[in-house]
Amino acid sequence: MGADGLQPKPTILVTGGAGYIGSHAVLALEKAGYQVVILDNLVYGHEDLVKQTLQAKLVVGDITDRALLDTLFATYNVAAVMHFAAYIAVGESVTDPAKYYHNNVVGALTLMEAMLAASVKRFVFSSTCAIYGPPKTVPIPEDHPQNPISPYAVSKLMVEKILADFGRAYNFQSVCFRYFNAAGADPDGRLGEDHTPETHLIPLVLFTALGRRESVSIFGTDYPTPDGTCVRDYIHVSDLATAHVLGLEYLLKGGTTEFFNLGNGNGFSVKQVIEIAQKVTGKSIVAIAQDRRPGDPPSLVGGSEKARKVLGWRPQYPNLEDIIAHAWQWHKYRHGNRV
Ligand code: UFG
Repeated sequence: MGADGLQPKPTILVTGGAGYIGSHAVLALEKAGYQVVILDNLVYGHEDLVKQTLQAKLVVGDITDRALLDTLFATYNVAAVMHFAAYIAVGESVTDPAKYYHNNVVGALTLMEAMLAASVKRFVFSSTCAIYGPPKTVPIPEDHPQNPISPYAVSKLMVEKILADFGRAYNFQSVCFRYFNAAGADPDGRLGEDHTPETHLIPLVLFTALGRRESVSIFGTDYPTPDGTCVRDYIHVSDLATAHVLGLEYLLKGGTTEFFNLGNGNGFSVKQVIEIAQKVTGKSIVAIAQDRRPGDPPSLVGGSEKARKVLGWRPQYPNLEDIIAHAWQWHKYRHGNRV
């Protein structure tokens, strides 16, 4: 029994819990009363943020290390795994696909095999809308054809397919969340995005507002969109985190393998993002039109009705101004003193 007389909630293993989306998920799990063990190799994760903000035990190690995984499952009474540990740079996956298939596919399979050996059969997976490839219909539904165009996206789809087979063969149940563009930061300023190198639009726009960069590039102004720049569906990272807790609880209650889009269903162009960031920060942001970036579809906007219906998910911060304001608060705290 816990101090409040209730049964303590189970322990969840979160891989990549020191990273951007993973750390927000750990925060949400802890808020919901779960015990968390983080497995992170700290190649991209941030130990300081885990130590400052989270209660979770941090185990430093790799998802491809089967002996370490066996020890983890023997040590902790893990009820389910949330799997975030993955490489995410689309461009790099094209030039170094081996790195992506090894870490994202072999690593996930090693983790799932260790889970099977330990009879842990509930898995929440961090997938991506990039598995659909260039959309044929917008908003993109979950049953949209899958035609990924980068090794990164293929690696995520491969894991989804392995999970579907594991569900049928081993009663191994999973929830795959296909995110649209994760953005924003913990509204209370405790966590946020800190990638090195940073390639994402919103942080780069805010770095320009902070004076860390002189300008931000607009990749392509001749797309078939209202203002010629790419349109994306930005979703608050804390809303993604909440969805993960709901997905976990769906599995803990006996739910079977499912796939969900997570987005707001509203598209914003690169130019609109820059305009809103100027309003939020009160700074003028220099933007320079450049050539298109290879591999960028003109518009990616998701339909997330299924997550609302099946999981009861309701994004709390659907407004892009709030998303950018939370990111701004975070970057001022995290990087402001390094300008
Ligand atoms: N962009 C710019 N200038 C920049 C950076 C980005 O104009 O300096 C543009 C991109 O061309 C794109 C949009 O801003 O049109 C968003 O780009 P991001 O790099 O922020 O995000 P992506 O849409 O490329 O990718 C993100 C994740 C992927 C995920 C994808 C799903 O990084 O892992 O969302 O939409 F697959």
